[in-house]
Amino acid sequence: MPDPGNPILKASADIGFSKERPLVRNLDISINQGEIFGIVGRSGIGKTTMIRTIAGLIPPISGKISFDGNPVSSAPRGSIGLIPQRLGLVNHQSVGYNVLMGALPRANLIQTIFSLPSRGMRDATREAIRSVGLSEKSLDPVNRLSGGEQRRVAIARAMVQSPKLLLADECLGELDADTAKEIINLLREISQSLGVAIIIVDHNPARANTFCDSMFELKGNRLLPLRDGDLPLQTSLPQIEGPII
Ligand SMILES: Nc1ncnc2c1ncn2[C@@H]1O[C@H](COP(=O)(O)OP(=O)(O)OP(=O)(O)O)[C@@H](O)[C@H]1O
Ligand SMILES: [Mg+2]
Repeated sequence: MPDPGNPILKASADIGFSKERPLVRNLDISINQGEIFGIVGRSGIGKTTMIRTIAGLIPPISGKISFDGNPVSSAPRGSIGLIPQRLGLVNHQSVGYNVLMGALPRANLIQTIFSLPSRGMRDATREAIRSVGLSEKSLDPVNRLSGGEQRRVAIARAMVQSPKLLLADECLGELDADTAKEIINLLREISQSLGVAIIIVDHNPARANTFCDSMFELKGNRLLPLRDGDLPLQTSLPQIEGPII
């Protein structure tokens, strides 16, 4: 159950690559277990940089980011799962191989050197693939899967480590409404049944608002809360008057 007194992630920092011109100033967030935290904002504003900083991959310009009460830089391996914007899958390799790569943080040195996955790693891989509904495709190369299926592989690869925090950078991408809904249901299930906190970047605020517990917009170097009244209605295709051709 979420414990509001004990957030899994707490960030109070300036983020970016230049001290003079930070992408995010005075970021001040705290996220609890099981919470889904949505971030929207125009292209190039700094969403991916913020996600990568929260993941501990980029140092903050100033301030601190703590995970489970300790600096994020000392977070246990595998405790933060990242689904990168470009998924980062090895496309010519199988679903099983890609998900197993996510289990590697659990491997010891000998297993890593000799590429010997333990039984535990193989079981966790199989279970992660099952949980995203891809058991029948576990031997298929990723480049033969649909866009939605590839996203499910990326989710399984992040989940195989049993993270406490999942960072999903535009993992709904250009999916059609039904496939996006499938992925959303999967993320909801992960947050509700496993208590995983999720930060998701989505370019569609109306869609994000349907499943996020709280919503923020990165705008003019600040991360600002979004209220229902600020959100556009979920739209379908634009209406076009008169003949198209
Ligand atoms: N390693 C880097 N060094 C310096 N600047 C960078 C670096 N990586 C990204 N940037 C710059 O930081 C800014 C924010 O990039 P970022 O990828 O975080 O944007 P974004 O909001 O995720 O955009 P999109 O919605 O297109 O994915 C961009 O101007 C980009 O050029
Ligand atoms: Mg991005």
